[in-house]
Amino acid sequence: MLASDDPALTSGPAMADFAPHVTPYSIVSLQFDPKGVTLGWSDGRSSRFHVLWLRDNCACSQCRHPIALERTYIFIDHAAPVVTSAEVDSRGDLEVRFQQGPDSHVSRFSHGWLRTHDLAESLARAGDFTPQPWDNQIAKRLRRIDYSHYMADPEGVRAWVAALKVHGVVLLEGVPQVSRQLLEAAKRIGPVRPSNFGEYYDVVSMPKPNASAYTSMGLELHTDLANWRYPPDIQLLFCLKSNVEGGDSVFADGFRVAEDLRDTDREAFDLLATQPVEYRFHDASCDIRTSATLIETDRGGNLQRIRFNNWLRGATVFPEPVLEQMYAAIGKLWRMLRDPKYQLHLRLRPGELIAYDNHRVLHGRAPFEAASGERHLQGCYINREDVDSVLRMLDRSAGAPG
Ligand SMILES: [Fe+2]
Repeated sequence: MLASDDPALTSGPAMADFAPHVTPYSIVSLQFDPKGVTLGWSDGRSSRFHVLWLRDNCACSQCRHPIALERTYIFIDHAAPVVTSAEVDSRGDLEVRFQQGPDSHVSRFSHGWLRTHDLAESLARAGDFTPQPWDNQIAKRLRRIDYSHYMADPEGVRAWVAALKVHGVVLLEGVPQVSRQLLEAAKRIGPVRPSNFGEYYDVVSMPKPNASAYTSMGLELHTDLANWRYPPDIQLLFCLKSNVEGGDSVFADGFRVAEDLRDTDREAFDLLATQPVEYRFHDASCDIRTSATLIETDRGGNLQRIRFNNWLRGATVFPEPVLEQMYAAIGKLWRMLRDPKYQLHLRLRPGELIAYDNHRVLHGRAPFEAASGERHLQGCYINREDVDSVLRMLDRSAGAPG
């Protein structure tokens, strides 16, 4: 069962991966056939690895660039592989020999890397941050994190990311009340995503507004930039001044509302998940449109995105029977969003910065009396991929499984 005690293998094969792949479990049994390898683990789990996947993921310097660590192996240029032998070496790692037409190749896989790529293990890890739908009871559980803890302590930013992924909303307190300070908070995660409103925008009442946000009107619950094919992922909203009458912020978990709609009116849910609606923003300098469904699910029916913004809804043309059904379905979802049982009401105070998932949590505000004082917020957007990357970098430095 054991391969040669090659000294080069004593630290385990490098897997062309910056992420640590640590596991307390060892390989205790091995079976192979031409189509793959089946491993038994010390905790009783069994993992099957297919020959195509194993060969494609070889990490040797012929198959991965030795510095960039990116794949250089091009499977379409090689004959289909078969496994001709497989062994566990003296370090407990896997060595597999492949035959591909006239060629043979040997690949080595660290047991920690194999364990983290076991299908069930991958699914379990993804579940660490499964979204937890919420209603107005979130007010008691809303995660509030001190700005200096977030900026300076890995555990602070980890808590922020975890709350954002699980609840889709998280609040920072004690942010220095300085214009553009939200950009510093954003850059803790990654680069800011600009839009047609710039790198960031000031939410103030303007005499000649080009968007509803720049008025003192109330804003129905909505997602931002619904008129973009890829709306921004995460919105940051920073309160600099707030002493007007009114202007409280409102949030609702679109996933929770959509799930309740699916439970109570499957027909309306299915229509909103399949029938595109046009969204449009236009001013003197641009006309940006897209068509998309209000509700987006993956193939398994899991909610992926809510897209709803009344003032950006374009003049979508529907056949008459669909038109009546669509107005009814949108109306149903909208009335549910207005139900106080789903709404989180917050009075953002100066120095507070709220972040929320723009594909899940809708936001709005009560009207305010512009002449009664000052209200000044600043907003910007960041990318989900950068949020996830921060989490992986924290795991990497902590030595957790990648
Ligand atoms: Fe908005």
